[in-house]
Amino acid sequence: MKRVVLAYSGGLDTSVAVRWMIEEWDVEVVCVLVDVGQDVDTAESFDDIRARALAAGAVECVIVDARHEMANEFCANAIAANARYEGKYPLVSALSRPVIVRHLVDQARKFNAQAVAHGCTGKGNDQVRFEVGTHALAPDLDVLAPARNWGMTRADSVDFAQKWNIPIKATKEKIYSIDENLWGRAVECGAMEDPWATPPEEPMTLTRVRTDRPVELTLSFVAGVPVAIDGVEMPLADLIKTLNDRAGSTGYGRIDMVENRRVGIKSREVYECPAALALIAAHADLEDLVLERDVHHEKARLETRWAELVYDGMWFSPLKEALDAFIAETQTHVTGDVRMHFEAPGMMRIVGRRSPKALYDYGLATYDAEDTFQHADSEGYVKIYGLGVKTWAARQGAKHAIPPRP
Ligand code: ARG
Repeated sequence: MKRVVLAYSGGLDTSVAVRWMIEEWDVEVVCVLVDVGQDVDTAESFDDIRARALAAGAVECVIVDARHEMANEFCANAIAANARYEGKYPLVSALSRPVIVRHLVDQARKFNAQAVAHGCTGKGNDQVRFEVGTHALAPDLDVLAPARNWGMTRADSVDFAQKWNIPIKATKEKIYSIDENLWGRAVECGAMEDPWATPPEEPMTLTRVRTDRPVELTLSFVAGVPVAIDGVEMPLADLIKTLNDRAGSTGYGRIDMVENRRVGIKSREVYECPAALALIAAHADLEDLVLERDVHHEKARLETRWAELVYDGMWFSPLKEALDAFIAETQTHVTGDVRMHFEAPGMMRIVGRRSPKALYDYGLATYDAEDTFQHADSEGYVKIYGLGVKTWAARQGAKHAIPPRP
């Protein structure tokens, strides 16, 4: 019998997928629940979720704690790349899928499975990320997508779960589809499917305004990696959690956008990602201070490509690897502090930055008495810099000037 390792979340679809694959495809199912920092429903624990997988018929349900891996290897790279897809979305779901894929493949090896499986439908990006990612790590493994084959509506799935005594909490009316991890939350469906409709407050957790006092804090970076808040060092996973709470309490971090999915669909997305946006903003600001101009400008071009690749499921790919090498090289001197001011509702300003590696030179920048810049040197420099334009104007007509009065 074929053995399959399923990426299991504990939700309706992946619970139904366990039993459906057993019945329809006659396979043995091992569930893998990867903890990437998702908040489990307060009334539930990972043990409850594990029990549900076993009740659905899984022969085993492995729980993997990947929170530090998610932070240190995935979020850290996204910060270095100032990664925001289409200039906005910090890749919340896109970052977690390669983490999950890594553990799926690892468990598939451990359990001698011939395939991995996921619960994605055919309309989204996550199927692309699971499948391309799996094949990048294990070209020999099959990838199965039961939810693309079963043709059940949500109500059918609920009936199916009841028929097989799978203890699900879902009801036939599900309002929102939510994916979350350390890096934030993606909230879809319900009223938000109309791009004109104001997103409801109800499904939001990280960006609900919980204070009317401003929040000021200082973030410290070493070689591009955030290491401390207000001088208190902590592992990146903890720092992200703390920042989600502190910055999010002022309502900062919500994104409402229409984005282009890999599969050709435009979708309205609402995200909550206070820590991700704050860390990227602070990191980019520190780079303004320490990166040499040409490196800085080139990096900005490549960052766009990096975010597209990761969004498109190419985390494990040769171009992404090559861009990572470039980005890593640029981070050597990105060390210093950034001071941020958050104020409800949802406002953020960077109010100060400093670095022992700053290229900012007070003597060169100041207009005061300490000025060390040689003003006279500029005369010849500017003359030669503008020489081509001057020649063009003289020979081919300065057509942009206001015409002489009659
Ligand atoms: N549109 C976002 C992305 O593609 C969010 C996806 C959320 N995933 C989900 N299964 N609900 O990254």
